[in-house]
Amino acid sequence: MKKYLSNDFDLSDYANVSDECSIWSAPFGLKLLDYIDYKQNISALDIGFGTGFPLTEIALRLGESSTVFGIDPWSDAIARARKKIEYYRISNIKIFEGVAESIPLKDNSVDLIVSNNGINNVSDINQVISECSRIIKSGGQFVQTMNLDKSMFEFYGQLEKVLSDLGMNPEIELMKQHIYQKRRPIDEIISIIQSHGFIIKDLEHDQFNYKFSNGSAMLNHYFIRLAFMDSWIKILPEKKLEQIFDTIEMQLNDQAKTLGGIKLTIPFVIINAIKK
Ligand SMILES: C[S@@+](CC[C@H](N)C(=O)[O-])C[C@H]1O[C@@H](n2cnc3c(N)ncnc32)[C@H](O)[C@@H]1O
Repeated sequence: MKKYLSNDFDLSDYANVSDECSIWSAPFGLKLLDYIDYKQNISALDIGFGTGFPLTEIALRLGESSTVFGIDPWSDAIARARKKIEYYRISNIKIFEGVAESIPLKDNSVDLIVSNNGINNVSDINQVISECSRIIKSGGQFVQTMNLDKSMFEFYGQLEKVLSDLGMNPEIELMKQHIYQKRRPIDEIISIIQSHGFIIKDLEHDQFNYKFSNGSAMLNHYFIRLAFMDSWIKILPEKKLEQIFDTIEMQLNDQAKTLGGIKLTIPFVIINAIKK
């Protein structure tokens, strides 16, 4: 009997592996999945798959005739991805624990490269795109998503105002540098991609809103603390930290009273490119 005709997945084990991706990753990911040309018998690579997204989803959607490689340096996340791969019974994934600045695949060997919010997190974007250009076949598809430099402008606007009121201009510069390091302007990204022999077929802008009841709820949210707080703290002097964040929290809370909550806008792009 065909194996898909029976649902023999253990629901108690499913609790350990459910959630293909985080709420943060989902808006980017759904768009990325839409742009992929799903074909049979191809070789694909996911850069920065974290706990398995979109690696597992793509492997399943392409089917067993294709092979999907994934590369990421984060070993704890890889361990969780492996659990999902085992539970979903996926046999066409090969994982490399490492960085995309050096991809252990042959020249002209893959048909599809994807990265959901991965390439904007690497240390050397130019080197990663150069590696993508080396391993992808002519006519191959390269789809990636990333959030843009205006991400959370509502928060950064408040931070800049507070720093300006305190006469902390060097810290304002550090804040701008931090945004530049984390979220390079889209024109720069595009020119890097084009300089490595890709043609941009589609560039779609989108955004989602990260909404909270007020500033206190936002600043205490686990993902804000885990993914962003350290980098904000790094650019500020320790002795002024409490004062700065007290003021920001108060101002965001005041805004929330008038506006009925606060929101952080997350603008992002989907870049769909083809190798010449
Ligand atoms: C924002 S997470 C995205 C994870 C996943 N793609 C998703 O959509 O949920 C960025 C990922 O990039 C990985 N990463 C960071 N530097 C990398 C590098 N140099 N090469 C490959 N992956 C890298 C991180 O370990 C992390 O898993």
